[in-house]
Amino acid sequence: MEIATVGVVGLGTMGAGIAQVFPRFGFDVIAVEATAELAEQGRRRVDTSLRRADERGHLDTPYDVVMERITFTADRADLAIADVVVEAVPERLELKAQLFDELDGICPERTIFATNTSSLPVTKLAASTKRPDRVVGMHFFNPAPVMRLVEVVHTVLTDAAVVDAVRELAVNCGKTPVVVRDRAGFVANALLFGYLNDAARMAETGRRTVGEIDRLVVEATGFPMGPLTLMDLIGLDVCVEVLEVMYDETRDRRYAPAPLLKRLVLAGHLGRKSGRGYYSYAGGAATPSVHVPSLDPAVAPQREQPGWVVESLVFAHLDDAVRMLDDNYASREDIDTAMRLGCGYPRGPFAMLDELRPHKVADALDNLGYQYSPLLRYL
Ligand SMILES: NC(=O)c1ccc[n+]([C@@H]2O[C@H](COP(=O)([O-])OP(=O)(O)OC[C@H]3O[C@@H](n4cnc5c(N)ncnc54)[C@H](O)[C@@H]3O)[C@@H](O)[C@H]2O)c1
Repeated sequence: MEIATVGVVGLGTMGAGIAQVFPRFGFDVIAVEATAELAEQGRRRVDTSLRRADERGHLDTPYDVVMERITFTADRADLAIADVVVEAVPERLELKAQLFDELDGICPERTIFATNTSSLPVTKLAASTKRPDRVVGMHFFNPAPVMRLVEVVHTVLTDAAVVDAVRELAVNCGKTPVVVRDRAGFVANALLFGYLNDAARMAETGRRTVGEIDRLVVEATGFPMGPLTLMDLIGLDVCVEVLEVMYDETRDRRYAPAPLLKRLVLAGHLGRKSGRGYYSYAGGAATPSVHVPSLDPAVAPQREQPGWVVESLVFAHLDDAVRMLDDNYASREDIDTAMRLGCGYPRGPFAMLDELRPHKVADALDNLGYQYSPLLRYL
């Protein structure tokens, strides 16, 4: 399956990044926006980002060559020559389905449709097209030119040769693909959001402050930032949306968005983008802005227990990775790769478990009364 030209639809946060990944590695790109004005805005966005990468010495291919390989347009008919189209339009199923429906009439039968969706069912999108066997998920991480992980998502309808071609395309663009079945959250978000929601729930208990939770987790794990800082960065509204999708699919209460998290969103405190979430960003510095007092002294002893925060949050997070393995959803290697390259973890969950010793993690979770995966005792 020869791939020379890639279409990218939607040049927002993700699309503008994805559109510059392919031409750096020799592919031609048709970059499509909704209107000519937005296409020009997208071009400026890509241009600024590429110039910055060039100044920092991050471009292996000269800037001019990369820019020349991209055609910016508002005319979707230009996608007729694309071998693969990656859509990165807003996260609304009807919008993506409508786009693929239109592209069904424009692109030849051989063209592969890839969606960058984070949480919508790829299967539903595939089933709505005339080429369900040629629809996959190609889930890039933000910022796309920098983050090496791409989750390649196949459905029960996808042709195996299409999955191979997309996996190879990702490799040929310097990415590390992890191939998985269609399931809410794929690998990285499914693991990340359970842990983030646990942290949101902990912040609500009043046992530890927002600042303490973040600091203790970072000190123990070397994660790039604490969970509440990360939620503010992702956007609390996006966190609630992803959690609701996860909850819908799993009916696991771990994914039911923490009540205070939902209330922060209702209050318009969406995190960094609105200037306030778990932290306030007034004046440029992050200052904790959620303070929940502890209502009963009975919870105090738990506060004093050494390691309580890390065991409750991080050990439970590691157990989620074990559950994912137990579900036969992804291998240890793929789970570790996804968390290192998609979330910036210094070590993946299984490498962390090896270091901590699985039976010690199980003992600590026992002490917390936490019901972990039976597989944890067999690792
Ligand atoms: N933002 C992230 O961190 C992130 C990470 C991974 C995946 N995603 C997924 O990527 C997709 C895009 O997210 P985003 O954050 O880049 O959104 P965004 O809102 O920043 O960008 C969407 C772009 O699509 C354009 N658009 C809308 N309708 C269009 C149409 N019919 N034709 C062409 N262009 C159209 C908009 O003008 C906008 O520029 C979503 O599915 C999201 O879930 C986002």
